[in-house]
Amino acid sequence: MTDIRGSRALITGAASGIGRLLAAELGRAGASLVLWDLDGEGLLEAQAELRGNGCEVQTYVCDLTLRQDIEAVAAQTLAESGAVDILVNNAGIVSGKNLLDISPAEIERTFQVNTLALFWTAKAFLPGMLERDRGHLVTIASAAGLAGTSKLTDYCSSKFAAVGFDESLRVELKRQNSKIVTTVVCPFYTDTGMFEGVRTRFPWLLPILDPAYVVTRTVRAIEKDRRRLIMPRFVYSGLPSRLLPVDWFDALMAFFGISHSMDEFRGRE
Ligand SMILES: NC(=O)c1ccc[n+]([C@@H]2O[C@H](COP(=O)([O-])OP(=O)(O)OC[C@H]3O[C@@H](n4cnc5c(N)ncnc54)[C@H](OP(=O)(O)O)[C@@H]3O)[C@@H](O)[C@H]2O)c1
Repeated sequence: MTDIRGSRALITGAASGIGRLLAAELGRAGASLVLWDLDGEGLLEAQAELRGNGCEVQTYVCDLTLRQDIEAVAAQTLAESGAVDILVNNAGIVSGKNLLDISPAEIERTFQVNTLALFWTAKAFLPGMLERDRGHLVTIASAAGLAGTSKLTDYCSSKFAAVGFDESLRVELKRQNSKIVTTVVCPFYTDTGMFEGVRTRFPWLLPILDPAYVVTRTVRAIEKDRRRLIMPRFVYSGLPSRLLPVDWFDALMAFFGISHSMDEFRGRE
């Protein structure tokens, strides 16, 4: 069990969407909060709202595309706010284009935020957790980290890497007999605006998720030390289909509408 009450939780990408709601839910559960984001104004708004609800909150502007910035802000966080017990790597970005239309800069940025930042934040906060033999690393990956699809080459591969990062680190920590827990969260499309315009063919099986639902389940998974959370449940049933011949797998993905789910993607406007 991870005791959220009395812990310090750091959430990246906390100025909006899932990150902001996660901060509110963790604050309600009794954590003191450290919020990181690129959006300084959004951070201040979130801070005011959370303080109004009685939460202890510190905010830091951090550009997760820059390793040096992450290292500097992490050092500042540790010096000013103290040790971090729960690290939630939540920030993420999407380009939503066919491979040849994505610029090299966009591809690099996607990997910097969705994948490399996981390494730099863990390298900054894991040593303190190891010293105390206590802590929880949460990776907000995606169902797109379990199956690749059209218009998401950079996003899916960065999220596959995020899933692999969590899994490898989990095994590494177990082999060190560490009590530190990792949780990977893989939601299907969620209604935050990030994936505006996406379509689902069978909403009763694969609904566009309510961010509040994603956040409630994520916080419960953290409390229960659950190692993997995939939403909605139907996505679990897709995992064995990986064993099918590739053409059958692709046909299933097309049948369920996943392959063309991004056709009308507009993203955040
Ligand atoms: N929404 C979905 O359908 C969905 C589904 C599955 C998984 N996820 C994952 O869930 C996580 C949260 O998604 P969301 O929908 O809540 O996204 P969101 O509403 O766009 O929020 C992401 C936050 O991350 C911040 N951010 C972006 N680039 C950054 C950078 N370089 N440095 C620091 N902060 C940065 C954004 O700031 P700015 O606003 O200033 O860019 C924003 O506040 C992401 O990892 C996403 O991949 C989302």
